[in-house]
Amino acid sequence: MSLLNSATRYGALVMGLHWLTFLLMVAGFLTAEAEELFPKGSAWRGSLVDLHGSFGLLVLLVAAPRLLLHLADRRPPIVPPVPAIQDRMAVIAHWALYALLFLLPVTGVCLVNFEGEVVMFFGSSLPRLLPKSEMLEDAFEEVHEFLANAAYAVIGLHAGAALFHHYMQRDNTLRRMLPWG
Ligand code: HEM
Ligand code: HEM
Repeated sequence: MSLLNSATRYGALVMGLHWLTFLLMVAGFLTAEAEELFPKGSAWRGSLVDLHGSFGLLVLLVAAPRLLLHLADRRPPIVPPVPAIQDRMAVIAHWALYALLFLLPVTGVCLVNFEGEVVMFFGSSLPRLLPKSEMLEDAFEEVHEFLANAAYAVIGLHAGAALFHHYMQRDNTLRRMLPWG
């Protein structure tokens, strides 16, 4: 398998970063849901919030090179070709996913700073970039929650579309994103 995308399939870089992002997002969602099980102020909740932020920051770190690759590299065509409308929907979904991969971590960092806390990255505290503000904390909490719900929906549609291509349309959409495809 080549490092970059070929005329028939995604390269190891795009594929590796895609599935790494998937795992990090699952970790981000699981830690976010798990922290809700513990009362506010408890040590467990605090540790889960820190872990959640750390996975979220990794998503941001991985998203940057991914976006550059996306802009620089070609997208292997789907075989057999699908109607143009379906292709356009995929392009919109991919841009929505990229937007979420940046906006979720950024709003997360903002909300933690506005709360008056420092962001932790696997045990190390990062410099505080923003001042404490209760009003902005509430606003960013709402925005972060809204984006997280949007991410559940867009990722669900995206994964559903990949499976539809594979099992119903029987084209190579999913296979060219799988190492064994
Ligand atoms: C891709 C990255 C991220 C995803 C998918 C994500 C997702 C979520 C989800 C699903 C929730 C629960 C929302 C709810 O229903 O109440 C949440 C809450 C939260 N997230 Fe994130 N998040 C991400 C990144 C971050 C980052 C980088 C930070 C901070 C450094 C962060 C800080 C928080 C905090 C503090 C809460 C709790 C808010 C509250 O008190 O309700 N998140 N996030
Ligand atoms: C957190 C979850 C996920 C995120 C954030 C995500 C994000 C993305 C993004 C941004 C692209 C565009 C790649 C590029 O050209 O740069 C993409 C492509 C793709 N993803 Fe995902 N994905 C996720 C989960 C999944 C899952 C679960 C599946 C399979 C069931 C899947 C299958 C695919 C396939 C087949 C492509 C290539 C589509 C095409 O070229 O038209 N993804 N994904």
